[in-house]
Amino acid sequence: MLQVHRAYRRPLVISRTCWTDSRAFLRFSAAHVVVLSVVVFALCCSTVSADVTPKTIVALENETVTLPCRTNRTSDLLTVEWSKAEMSPNITLLYRHGRETVEEKNSAFVNRTKLLLEEVKHGNISQVISKLRLSDGGRYLCRTMVGKQRQVEAALDLIVGAASEPKLTFVPSGANGGLTLECSAERWFPKPEITFHDENGKEIEAEDPRIDLDSAGCFNVKRRASLQIVTNGVTCRVHQPLLKRRHAHIYIPDDCMRSCTSSIVWSVMVTAAALGLCAVAYFLWKKYGRSCKSVTFYYLYQSRRKLS
Ligand SMILES: *[C@@H]1O[C@H](CO)[C@@H](O)[C@H](O)[C@H]1NC(C)=O
Ligand SMILES: *[C@@H]1O[C@H](CO)[C@@H](O)[C@H](O)[C@H]1NC(C)=O
Ligand SMILES: *[C@@H]1O[C@H](CO)[C@@H](O)[C@H](O)[C@H]1NC(C)=O
Ligand SMILES: *[C@@H]1O[C@H](CO)[C@@H](O)[C@H](O)[C@H]1NC(C)=O
Ligand SMILES: *[C@@H]1O[C@H](CO)[C@@H](O)[C@H](O)[C@H]1NC(C)=O
Repeated sequence: MLQVHRAYRRPLVISRTCWTDSRAFLRFSAAHVVVLSVVVFALCCSTVSADVTPKTIVALENETVTLPCRTNRTSDLLTVEWSKAEMSPNITLLYRHGRETVEEKNSAFVNRTKLLLEEVKHGNISQVISKLRLSDGGRYLCRTMVGKQRQVEAALDLIVGAASEPKLTFVPSGANGGLTLECSAERWFPKPEITFHDENGKEIEAEDPRIDLDSAGCFNVKRRASLQIVTNGVTCRVHQPLLKRRHAHIYIPDDCMRSCTSSIVWSVMVTAAALGLCAVAYFLWKKYGRSCKSVTFYYLYQSRRKLS
């Protein structure tokens, strides 16, 4: 990443010296001016940088993302080149002679990147990447060429995140009552934080999380908390500042806090919630009918998507 920063900043620094140097020009002798102009021209004018403050774009795995880029150059000879750092060949999309040229493209991006040809006419040379992979994350450069004159039009840092619905379960924790809660967040990127909250939103003290990194570079995080207080519900919040927050909520019947004897472990997916509810109710009635008789057991899995 550092390398990329340096490589890409070079033209910027050069164009800045161009400006400051121009004021000092007058004080130089004619010979200096000639030498300096040659140097300045060679450095500064072979690559013109427009406003290329890198922007960060966040998208989720499997989504389609648009990396915005505009050019003010209008020419039938316009070449648009999108490349990605630290990859060889580094071309993700090449537009030349009015159409996409696929030959030089990195094979990981075949059939996944495009420009809207209609938009190119209007200077919109945004790259659309579909079926995002975690490996697509990194620095992208959007450049144009007309003849030999290259211009960097935009630099973008793409972060491809992964997120899933958390699973919250509980088991009675032993003779002295109380429950052990366990919340797990599988396949997240970047690494999320897990917190537990009681029905009033107050954070419940928890153990240190257990974190595994899978082969794809995603984090599997599990965290446990022991619950001694009596509360009707517990929420597990999985939070990663760049991504949407996820919640899992569980209702804990009073009786179960005290007297449920065997372990109760469930995880119900959102889509199966309705079905699951019936099955769980039936199962409970059959198995725990005696000890948890008066209690209706609700297990509701909730996920809320909020932009953080
Ligand atoms: C495009 O913008 C750049 C930088 O903003 C400017 O130097 C250049 O003259 C413009 N070109 C055209 C064709 O308008
Ligand atoms: C993304 O798609 C792949 C393949 O279709 C699938 O295995 C994976 O679970 C999907 N990931 C997410 C987060 O939906
Ligand atoms: C891709 O390669 C070209 C040629 O080596 C280089 O100028 C460009 O900076 C590279 N792109 C990125 C994003 O590193
Ligand atoms: C890309 O799409 C073409 C045409 O639909 C198809 O023939 C080809 O197999 C695809 N290539 C990849 C790598 O998916
Ligand atoms: C530019 O084109 C992309 C698709 O290529 C589109 O999503 C975006 O809205 C366009 N931007 C503007 C400013 O027209």
